[in-house]
Amino acid sequence: MTPKQFLLGLLPATTRGSLEYHFGSHHHFYPWGGAMNGQAARLELARSVIRATAPQMIVETGTYRGTTTEFLCDFDLPVTTVEIHPRFFTFARLRLQRRATCQVLQSSSVPVLRGITATLAGRHAFYYLDSHWEKHLPLREELELILTEGSEAVVLIDDFKVADDDGYGFDDYGPGQALTMDYVRACSLPPFHAFYPSVPGREETGYRRGCVVLTASAAQAAKLGALPMLRAAPHSRGA
Ligand SMILES: C[S@@+](CC[C@H](N)C(=O)[O-])C[C@H]1O[C@@H](n2cnc3c(N)ncnc32)[C@H](O)[C@@H]1O
Repeated sequence: MTPKQFLLGLLPATTRGSLEYHFGSHHHFYPWGGAMNGQAARLELARSVIRATAPQMIVETGTYRGTTTEFLCDFDLPVTTVEIHPRFFTFARLRLQRRATCQVLQSSSVPVLRGITATLAGRHAFYYLDSHWEKHLPLREELELILTEGSEAVVLIDDFKVADDDGYGFDDYGPGQALTMDYVRACSLPPFHAFYPSVPGREETGYRRGCVVLTASAAQAAKLGALPMLRAAPHSRGA
């Protein structure tokens, strides 16, 4: 730890987040070079999924610096993003303050998703699940709230193991806590359809993190299955 980092660590988290925003270093605004880990194919994948499945809103869990949130705001849909850490929440709230359709919340993702899923009333959302890093991995609860029977919801999980493509990286938080299809299959979910990126990891740009797209809706799955950026995952329960 450098003396500067030590001194910054003594500041309240919100002050630090605010200073980082006003200081304006590129590294803080674009920690991985750009939205979705700086991955060009992933951005195209997300664009095509959102356009094809026509959600009425977008939800991101794990805002961090708001880099991907900015990208998600460009679809002219209401965007809700939730961040647990006060430092990153403060930074992202300042960054996104002029985005009229964007709501930045400081909370754990699960209560926010519980509220959203309870009030959607026939509308459906695109969910970008990226709230990893902390001791508690909320993914199982997130999926169980979102992927309910009859829901048209579409979910993109970042940092997910693409089973047959080692060119993509994924997160592993210890026994039973790796972001894999086994993890998803162990959740209490209705039958679901799963899709991996069709672009091989070695051809991706940026940080080459894997992902999976899930839905419990046969109608949404038919639309996703027709997209060139996706291919059906071999272990999908609903397929
Ligand atoms: C990988 S970063 C998100 C990156 C961001 N989505 C992007 O694409 O730029 C993960 C973030 O999730 C946050 N996080 C971890 N657990 C969370 C939880 N239970 N609820 C909300 N945010 C959480 C972390 O503080 C961290 O900022």
